[in-house]
Amino acid sequence: MKKKTSVLFVCLGNICRSPVAEAVFQNLVFENGLGDLFEIDSAATSYNHIGERADPRTRKNAQKNGIEITHRARQLHSSDFTRYDYILAMDQSNLKNILSVAPSNSTARIELFASFDPDEQFVEVPDPYWGEEKHFQEVYQLCQRASHHFLTYLKSLK
Ligand code: 4NP
Repeated sequence: MKKKTSVLFVCLGNICRSPVAEAVFQNLVFENGLGDLFEIDSAATSYNHIGERADPRTRKNAQKNGIEITHRARQLHSSDFTRYDYILAMDQSNLKNILSVAPSNSTARIELFASFDPDEQFVEVPDPYWGEEKHFQEVYQLCQRASHHFLTYLKSLK
């Protein structure tokens, strides 16, 4: 990993899952002393929550796990497709939406976030918006797990 690696996490609203993925992966990168080598952000496929802080349930759950989420929701932009090396979707529906707006000059690798996890069971980070507290905790745990596998993958490219 010589050059800076840029990663954009994407979900539907950018208030529940992708801000957690962003914060968890950023923390992991810092813990590994690799902060200078990454540019990390998150975005939404929809415009519904632009400018909003993460969902209060998301922030509360993150705090419970020792992480602070300060991100404000923004929508995926066509320039992201050339700015970011990786655009990582939380679920299949997000992936489909991202691919449907990808410009022809896109250089990003567009994948499911959890696809770097060898365990097939965890291939999606499910939407917790209509769920309960336990679903927010599940998002956190899946993001931790997927972040670990993604960073291991990136280190293997060195
Ligand atoms: P996210 O969750 O995509 O993980 O941010 C959702 C946020 C908002 C809505 C759905 C999912 N919504 O319907 O407003």
